[in-house]
Amino acid sequence: MNAHNRKPLPAHPVVAVVGATGAVGREMLLVLEQRGFPASRVLALASARSAGQHITYNGAGTTAHYNDGGAYLEVQETTPEAFADVDIALFSAGGAASERLREAVVASGAVMIDNSSAFRMEEGVPLVVPEVNPRAALEHHGVIANPNCSTIQMVVALAPLAALAPLKRVVVSTYQAASGAGAAAMDELYTQTREFLDGQPLTIERFAHQIAFNCIPQIDIFLDDASTKEEWKMVVETKKILSAPELEVCANCVRVPVLRCHAEMVNVEFAAPVSVDAAHEAFASAPGIVLQDDPAQKLYPMPGLLAGTDATYIGRLRHDPTVPYGLNFWCVADQLRKGAALNAVQIAELLLAE
Ligand code: A2P
Repeated sequence: MNAHNRKPLPAHPVVAVVGATGAVGREMLLVLEQRGFPASRVLALASARSAGQHITYNGAGTTAHYNDGGAYLEVQETTPEAFADVDIALFSAGGAASERLREAVVASGAVMIDNSSAFRMEEGVPLVVPEVNPRAALEHHGVIANPNCSTIQMVVALAPLAALAPLKRVVVSTYQAASGAGAAAMDELYTQTREFLDGQPLTIERFAHQIAFNCIPQIDIFLDDASTKEEWKMVVETKKILSAPELEVCANCVRVPVLRCHAEMVNVEFAAPVSVDAAHEAFASAPGIVLQDDPAQKLYPMPGLLAGTDATYIGRLRHDPTVPYGLNFWCVADQLRKGAALNAVQIAELLLAE
């Protein structure tokens, strides 16, 4: 069953956010609220541990209110039965929860928009960045995957360049924020920073090593070829989203002590000449991109200063003279928003528009 023969989405769908107490889940609720998503009802789902908690949510689709008139959602346990009336299920509760609940969600007739890596490379599961491959979203069979956060911001930037000349090879080095490892990891960055400054022993639970005042060149597990799974994700997901199986992608992923924006230095080699001016113009008119690029003014995007923003910010655009046709640029995006929650809600908006 694909998007064309599934039941049409109502104009005011019932939306479930799974992982609603987590870093991405909370941001999903905020994005739904801020964008005025026309939900008829919103369910906040998490593990049994959180059932009964209240999460402030002032968007459409809530029925519960505090005494002062502000609205909230009461967290419910994520059970297969919870999806009975749901039309759109936004998942960010880890791959195991997505795998366990997929069948129940799809059987209920809902569309699952999944932020985990569980189904991204599965044939028949669209991997969607709305600025890049929106039409892919309409070919789903009940599940749409939200790409890896680092991949999303890179393909937003690569798509307008690919329209100028075929991409041959991309080399990317990432500077990834703590938020990619979840809410507890963000707390660990705060805690360790305080402990470090106080000369106390450091609490190291969420990262493999100290993250405060440090960089860790490992994200996710190591694979047999000594690369990490995060690096592998950037390679294979980029090819899938851009429909470019021949594109060479070399990724190097590093965790840095930043709270929630990822930064990337990207080197692109093209199959034909692309001038810096043409790339500048392409970025300037591309959806979802903001250029901050003026060396004379020391203007470039910085991850510590862009938390809470929606765009992919680009700067440091310049010629790479070491290959026949090459460019370098730097890009920054909020990992919790464009890298996760915002992209997922944009996919839901695409489905509704259809
Ligand atoms: P809970 O807070 O009840 O543990 P983060 O990525 O920030 O660590 O957040 C993970 C999110 O996934 C949280 O909302 C967490 O809920 C939720 N979660 C974890 N395990 C499950 C599960 N088995 N079923 C549903 N939600 C889960």
